[in-house]
Amino acid sequence: MGFLYSQLFVRPTYPTRLFEGQTVLVTGANVGLGLEAARHVVRLGAARVILGVRNVPAGNVAKEEIETSTRRPGVVEVWEVDLASYSSTLAFGDRIAQLPRLDAAILNAALATPTFQLAEGYERSITVNVINTLLLALLILPRLKATGQEFPTSLPRLAFVVSEVHAWVEFPEWKDTDKVMQILSDPAKAKMAERYPLSKLLEVLLVQELAGRTRGSDVIITMVNPGLCHSALGREAGWGLFIMKLVLARSTEVGSRTLVAGISTGIEGHGAYMTDATVDNTSLSPFVRSEDGRLAREKLWKELSAILEPIRPGIMQNI
Ligand SMILES: NC(=O)c1ccc[n+]([C@@H]2O[C@H](COP(=O)([O-])OP(=O)(O)OC[C@H]3O[C@@H](n4cnc5c(N)ncnc54)[C@H](OP(=O)(O)O)[C@@H]3O)[C@@H](O)[C@H]2O)c1
Repeated sequence: MGFLYSQLFVRPTYPTRLFEGQTVLVTGANVGLGLEAARHVVRLGAARVILGVRNVPAGNVAKEEIETSTRRPGVVEVWEVDLASYSSTLAFGDRIAQLPRLDAAILNAALATPTFQLAEGYERSITVNVINTLLLALLILPRLKATGQEFPTSLPRLAFVVSEVHAWVEFPEWKDTDKVMQILSDPAKAKMAERYPLSKLLEVLLVQELAGRTRGSDVIITMVNPGLCHSALGREAGWGLFIMKLVLARSTEVGSRTLVAGISTGIEGHGAYMTDATVDNTSLSPFVRSEDGRLAREKLWKELSAILEPIRPGIMQNI
């Protein structure tokens, strides 16, 4: 009911907080919510906005479109990253870490697919939406923290784009194994119809754990839910989603307002779930808020550490 009310009657507030002088990263910003969020940030005065995209020509089209609509040339840069690949994610994260400053990042790139495919040994949506999204966060966290220390007017922020669908899926697997992501990557067991919401649930649990281990005074970490929006995300979904979107979906611009809210909030937003551009932890699923949810996220964090440490020794110390 909360979802229907929000989609039909609530409009997140239009972003107005300025980003003057700041450097902001948005991944998956060649289309959809990432593109609209980047456009807001450029309009709001950011000095440098990096679009992290896997398709550079599409990124260049987005850059031109943003610069034309905001009349702010020379602000947007297009940097390549493929979150299906460890080496690409590492190279991108290391490049970001070299920036003179990084005031905010919106980790928005994700995919929703019913097709099972492996990437780096894990089912692709687990690799892209969960493992490499967290890997990138850990790679850029030191640069965010350092920016807060070096530029006293900056309070760095890191927003993860999640979804209300994290609450629409069962997750019994967490109890039976210490290697959830490995089990979910077994083609014989994968329920791909539920995979996108499940990937978002894993992301929510891991971001909660990350935020719990990070001081909000160093970096404010948020989870943002844009609501159901028109975008390319459901391109592989059936008629059901198409009709649901016709009736309920927001424009990508309206949805992107909550992404911008995620990098505009004060310390009260640290570790919080934001929906309709406001902090609302009561919209997290009962499972996420339960004791089982806490145990599941601790297990997942251990598994994530075991996956990431061999890829980049010491990475978990970046917190
Ligand atoms: N739309 C909704 O209703 C909705 C609702 C709740 C949450 N969300 C979340 O909002 C975020 C943005 O989704 P959207 O709706 O704007 O979808 P979208 O239009 O499909 O955009 C997704 C972006 O992620 C990029 N991406 C996918 N796989 C990638 C990879 N391996 N490496 C790098 N980038 C990759 C895509 O690049 P390509 O263009 O190259 O594919 C695209 O730029 C996602 O996190 C999604 O889960 C969306």
